[in-house]
Parts: sequence; C-alpha cells; structure tokens
Amino acid sequence: MLDCCRKRVVATLPRALLIKTSAVVPDGQLNPYNCYMLIKKASDVRSSEITPKGVYLRRREFIQASAAALVAAGCGSLVGEAQTRTKLKGPIKKSPFSTTEKVNLYTHVTGYNNFYEFGTSKDEPAVNARNFKTTPWTLEVEGEVAKPAKYALEDFIKPYALEERIYRMRCVEAWSMVIPWVGIPLKDVIDKVQPTGKAQFVEFITLHDIARMPMQRTNVLEWPYVEGLRLDEAKHPLALLAVGIYDEVLPGQNGAPMRLVVPWKYGFKGGKSIVKMRFVEKQPRNTWQTMAAHEYGFYANVNPNVDHPRWSQARERRLPDLLATTKTQMFNGYNEVASLYAGMDLRKNY
Ligand code: MTE
Repeated sequence: MLDCCRKRVVATLPRALLIKTSAVVPDGQLNPYNCYMLIKKASDVRSSEITPKGVYLRRREFIQASAAALVAAGCGSLVGEAQTRTKLKGPIKKSPFSTTEKVNLYTHVTGYNNFYEFGTSKDEPAVNARNFKTTPWTLEVEGEVAKPAKYALEDFIKPYALEERIYRMRCVEAWSMVIPWVGIPLKDVIDKVQPTGKAQFVEFITLHDIARMPMQRTNVLEWPYVEGLRLDEAKHPLALLAVGIYDEVLPGQNGAPMRLVVPWKYGFKGGKSIVKMRFVEKQPRNTWQTMAAHEYGFYANVNPNVDHPRWSQARERRLPDLLATTKTQMFNGYNEVASLYAGMDLRKNY
C-alpha cells in the first residue's frame, strides 16, 4: 500500500524530529501500516483493489495495523505517564445528547489517533505530541461576522458552561469509538459572534507551526489542516468545540487545546488544534478534499449506502474489537440532523 504520498514523506522527512522510531521499519521506510487515508489519484486505483480479494487484503492490513496501535494503546500507561493529565476546572454539565453505549478506554482514545502533523501511524501522535505546547493560544474569529476578534483561548471559553458529550466517532476508515468529550456548543459561540447575512459557511483553520508540528516539514498533507461546515450544520446543537476528554484537558494527540467534533460526520471533519474560525460566503475546500477529491468530499456525512471508492462503508469495527463488525448507521445514528440534508443527493454530496 505504499503510494506516492508515502514516498514523498520518506524523501522529505527530517527523521530526527520524530521522537518515536518503532513506526519506522529497519530499512528506513515508514511503517506501511496504519495510513489508510492514502492519497491516490483516480487513475492510481487499480480495479483489483475493489475486488473481494482487495477488500480481504485491506481487512487483514487493517487488523494488523489496528492490533499494532492498540498494543501501543494497551501500553498507554507508558505514554500516559509521560503526559501530564489535568482535570478541567469548573462544573461540567451532563448532556441529554450523550449516548449510553460503553465508552472506550482512555488508552484507546489517546493511543490510536489520526493527527498527521505528528505522524501518519496511529500510535505516533501520542508520542510526538507529548510535549506539544498549547499555552498561550490565540483564537481568531474573522470574515463575515459582526464581531471579529482575537481571543486568548481561556477568554474565548469562559462565557460558556462546559458540557460532557459522549458521542460515537466513526472514522472514514471504517472503525469507531465512543468518546466522552467535554466542550462548548459551537452554536453558542456562533450566536455570540453574530455572522452577517452573507455568511454561509464556517472554515476551521488549524495551527501551522513547523517548529511545533514535525510532519509539517513534509508534504504529506497540504498545511494547515482545514475543515468547514455549512452555517446551519455548524449551528446544529450536536456540533461541539471540544477542550477535553474524560473531564480532563484535551491531550495533544486528540487536538489540544481545542478541536471540532461533528458526530454525524466522518472523523476527518473534526479539525484539531484550531486557531481560526472564518465565516465565508463560498464553500471552503477541506484538506482531504484538496488531497483526493474523488475519495473525500465536503459533506462527509456517515453513510452506509455510499462506499468509499476503495472500501465499503456498510459496516464498521468498534475498537478495540478487531474481529467483529457492526452495521454502520446513517448519520452515525444521529438522525436528528437528517432535515439539514432534505432534498440533497448524498451520493453526489459525499
Ligand atoms: N486535524 C488535524 N489538524 N490533523 C489531522 O491529521 N485528522 C482527522 C481529524 N482531525 C486530523 C485532524 C482525522 S482523519 C480523524 S479520523 C480525526 O481527527 C481523529 O481524531 P482522534 O485522533 O481524536 O480520534
């Protein structure tokens, strides 16, 4: 599964910057496991990859990759010990939006991550983001709003009550977890900054700082990582700006100090380490769309009926169970968002 993206990384990566070395195999190539959101042009995808054999091989690769990272997550105490875990200050409200499903272990949620700024393997962000410095942090609100402003993150969050939201998280790579986020409703923030009549979309721009994010020295993705929502999606009560998990400050690998959580969409919509929210008239391009528009769209709603060009989205693995699969639910089971997409062709708007 080596592809052009990986070769580019190998060529440009200053290895000394990456603390973790076990993801690098002895011949100096990056570990070929764990990177599923591979960047391929439509012409690179051989038809054999969508045959049952291709699916089978992918599944084996997935299991190997997941096992490797989950072993790392199981040894999460090693990672966890090195990180300072800090309780969030103030009361944290429970939310009726939370699921009552079994919550994943802290070691799964913090040991199996996609955060390419800190490595393309699932176990690398926990190690490489260990010393990620997030104070001071400035958040800028700009564009079509009555009140554009720059905030120190703590001032930005202060007016709102923190809420716990236990959500399912479904990755486009066909695995899922249940995560106890803590954050503030995005809707409350939007109401406060008052978008103008021209604002149709919100763009979430994340940190671009080569000194603090080692993989930004490579071109594995276009930097900074950017995501976007239509304004009415962003104002849906389920959309959250998370600042914590398990009642603790968000660890680096999960998107410290603040990241987006949109539980009815594939996980890649949840931009991590946000520095700017920009209100715009035109639909922004998100990073994965820029990298491979035929595979990753703007909407990215969880949809068991619309397959990824290289794998089925009908079922998923609820980590850490690697052997069983369960049916994927439309909108990840958050059917209350369905009216946002009434009349839209979700095959075209994937
Ligand atoms: N945000 C940034 N800045 N960089 C990333 O590489 N990966 C995305 C998303 N947000 C990513 C990001 C993807 S692909 C997923 S699935 C989720 O983060 C993973 O979130 P988690 O590691 O907390 O589970």
